Amino acid sequence: MDTFLIGGRNRLFGKTKVQGAKNSVLPILAASILNAGVSEISNCPDLTDVNSTLRILRHLGCTAERSEDTITVDSSGMNRDSISDRLMREMRSSVIFLGAILARTGSACISYPGGCNLGARPIDLHLRALRELGADIDEAGGSIVCKAEKLEGKDITLSIPSVGATENIMLAATAAKGTTRIHNAAREPEIADLQAYLRAVGTRVSGAGTSTIEIEGGPLLDSVKHRIIPDRIVTISYMAAVASAGGEITLEGAEPEHISAVTDIMREAGCRITEEKDRVHICSDGRLRAVRPIRTMPYPGFPTDAQSPLMAVMCAADGTSVFVENIFENRYRCASELMRMGADIRIEGRVAVVCGVPRLHGAKVTATDLRGGAALVIAALGAEGNTEVSEIQHIERGYDGFDKVLNRLGAKIERRRIFIPEE
Ligand code: UD1
Repeated sequence: MDTFLIGGRNRLFGKTKVQGAKNSVLPILAASILNAGVSEISNCPDLTDVNSTLRILRHLGCTAERSEDTITVDSSGMNRDSISDRLMREMRSSVIFLGAILARTGSACISYPGGCNLGARPIDLHLRALRELGADIDEAGGSIVCKAEKLEGKDITLSIPSVGATENIMLAATAAKGTTRIHNAAREPEIADLQAYLRAVGTRVSGAGTSTIEIEGGPLLDSVKHRIIPDRIVTISYMAAVASAGGEITLEGAEPEHISAVTDIMREAGCRITEEKDRVHICSDGRLRAVRPIRTMPYPGFPTDAQSPLMAVMCAADGTSVFVENIFENRYRCASELMRMGADIRIEGRVAVVCGVPRLHGAKVTATDLRGGAALVIAALGAEGNTEVSEIQHIERGYDGFDKVLNRLGAKIERRRIFIPEE
């Protein structure tokens, strides 16, 4: 029940290293059960979602230990094919274990996953694809019970390029006989990272980053080492923090190619951005102008996860910006909190119209989801006065030491522990 108390209008200066990608490390940790051996995964961020994943791995009978940013999983002792309802509810990505457990044991039993409340978030595409590979799936009573005597490679066409469904198919297909081809696959960099891990462990897989991915089932190696790619949404979030507060920072270990859809928009807003192979430098005087309409799209389009952080920035820009959210129907939940800080936002279905105001002011606000919570911090950094952000556990699902990193760059964020007496 901690809160952040944020003093606004402190410019940010200096350098920081970008953490590893949450959306890579979660499916790769799930993949670590495939080889019944040892996976050494480095550049792992310290996040509550990662800790939830480690709890699932241990529950399945694996050992999973962290030493600094390296997590070592030994899945040789895995002795369970089911995940308890309590663990499943901790995060949405737990659904990725379905394909992995099925591939490893030929059966799996999970309940419906939890995670950010961004709308309905069905998993029909995951289940349909696993059925196409030969799994028999029973969805009675809130549980998903899968059995597959044998999985067989197939051509699978996704109606939406779902990131999670693409990952689940890739994992299940490692144990299928023959070749699986995913058409209309998601093209996100995290899919390419999963491919890199699967290749390192001996799978013949190609095409990640394009719309067609080909996976051939086959034996896997006993041990594998893999380094997680940098987190593009965290990179964008720190860029948005500088845009909001003003200042000049360098993000080391960033991958400029992964964020180009957002970099263009931030330049249009008035930020000066230079890029090198593995770093991004951003400079802003805190005076911003409105940008052309932002439409969220699957990669390489503008990421839905960057929508709230950018909205926070545009609240205090000169002019009117329009956002169109095409991926999740419930992704404007932070807008009403931004309005408590003086933002002028109107929402009509999937469209949000943000009329820039000269300056936001501090207020008591509540994080409603991961990226929306980060957006409130970003807005607070540029606002006049103090802002108190509660429910920060949402932010800690995806940002490793958000307050500490920002404070090292010059922000004034105090973390307050709120004790609620037991009744
Ligand atoms: C992943 C990311 C999340 C990001 C999202 C979109 C992880 C851990 N999370 O989530 O941060 O915001 O991609 O880039 O990687 N859909 C269906 N049926 C399905 C699956 C998805 O209708 O079976 C729909 C969803 O409701 C949504 C769209 O497809 O409208 C895209 O969702 P998807 O790409 O699957 O997102 P996630 O994998 O859940």
